[in-house]
Amino acid sequence: MTSVLRVNGGRSLNGEITVRGAKNFVPKAMVAALLGHTPSVLSNVPLIQDVNVVSGLLELHGVKVDFDESCGVLHLDPTSVESAHVADIDAHAGSSRIPILFCGPLLHRLGEAFIPDLGGCNIGGRPIDFHLDSLRSFGARVEKRVGGIHITNPDGLHGTQIELPYPSVGATEQTLLTAVLAKGLTELRGAAVEPEIMDLVSVLQKMGAIISVDTDRTIRIEGVDELVGYRHSALPDRIEAASWASAALATGGDITVLGASQPDMTTFLNTFRKIGGSFDVLENGIRFWHPGGDLRSIAIETNVHPGLMTDWQQPLVVALTQAKGLSIVHETVYEKRFGFTDALNQMGAQVQLYRECLGSTPCRFKQANFVHSAAISGPTPLHGADIEIPDLRGGFSHMIAALAASGTSTVSGIEMISRGYEHFTSKLSLLDADFKEVK
Ligand code: EPU
Repeated sequence: MTSVLRVNGGRSLNGEITVRGAKNFVPKAMVAALLGHTPSVLSNVPLIQDVNVVSGLLELHGVKVDFDESCGVLHLDPTSVESAHVADIDAHAGSSRIPILFCGPLLHRLGEAFIPDLGGCNIGGRPIDFHLDSLRSFGARVEKRVGGIHITNPDGLHGTQIELPYPSVGATEQTLLTAVLAKGLTELRGAAVEPEIMDLVSVLQKMGAIISVDTDRTIRIEGVDELVGYRHSALPDRIEAASWASAALATGGDITVLGASQPDMTTFLNTFRKIGGSFDVLENGIRFWHPGGDLRSIAIETNVHPGLMTDWQQPLVVALTQAKGLSIVHETVYEKRFGFTDALNQMGAQVQLYRECLGSTPCRFKQANFVHSAAISGPTPLHGADIEIPDLRGGFSHMIAALAASGTSTVSGIEMISRGYEHFTSKLSLLDADFKEVK
């Protein structure tokens, strides 16, 4: 059922909220628990939809999952892993992108896996060819079936050499989760090195894996015979922290994000400061605020780590509608991540989209006719509108726009935001937003 908020905008967001573990790390650490033969304990776990989806899939495979929601601690006991019925797995089709990461661990534990068709945000084609090529290279057989893929490893998995065509986060995680128990050495070149991946490396090392990361995006994994459970506290969600920072800027507010961590956000903080936002790094978080006066326009490009994250882009674009002059945003990670700007234009923004690369980074989308650059003229006053949320980050951005806009907006599809933002509406209340649930 779709949930709808009526938002009375035009007032700043002020107050203090807390972010917990990263959405793009926690579900992967949950999958890693499958590789151990003793229980694992993961803390700082947020209450978000992706955690529920992965808990459900783990339980179908015989893992005992016990989640203490109030303190954010997950106990995962994989001692009785078993095959699940395809029909039960199928119920999870389209729910998330995480199920593809079950391949390696299930192959090691059971010798086969059925992976349902994936879900996730519609921000591009989101193929899984790198994942499947990686699995095949370890010796797995991959077969497309109705509703998903069936994977087997008749002769066991062996170490291999892989070079990713692009530093894909998911394909790097796929390779790590498969290589740790494969026989022999795996060398992965062109790997993604996002902080969430480094935290997964920490988890796997605690479990007994041997993994080294070089400065040139090469990761070497020496396969071991067995792994044990881990105890780990998830790194904080730097996407959520940056989203609230952008909300402070767009609404002229002042938000302290407890739990936010500076080292993982260096690139964002530089951009935030260049636009004219102020921040103060505290012992237990970061305070972000609009210092008054004009915000400044900027030219930015999204990129893999340590570049400016693609997931920071959408909330920042809303803040840029309030900056003086012409801002340019070149999206180089996803080919279709500007769909959310239609609604911003409907609310009075002036965002023009281009197929050309408006930036200096050589981009894979250059010759491919994808609308992947944006020019934002500002400042433009925003006014309320009826908006339908398109995806997770675009949805958060629509909410910021509605909160910044004068008048009333009706925003539908709020449940999409809860996939990645814990206690979203409670946090809005803490920040003194004026809104009402109408459905
Ligand atoms: N790609 C391929 N083939 C593949 C895999 C990826 O062509 O087999 C392409 C993608 O189409 C995309 C690029 O490579 O153009 C990068 O994709 P990547 O694999 O890095 O993304 P992902 O693992 O599917 C994760 C996050 C995304 C985040 C990206 C980039 C999770 C669950 N999702 O996706 O988060 O944007 O990395 O950092 O970790 C979000 O949180 O809203 C979100 C979309």
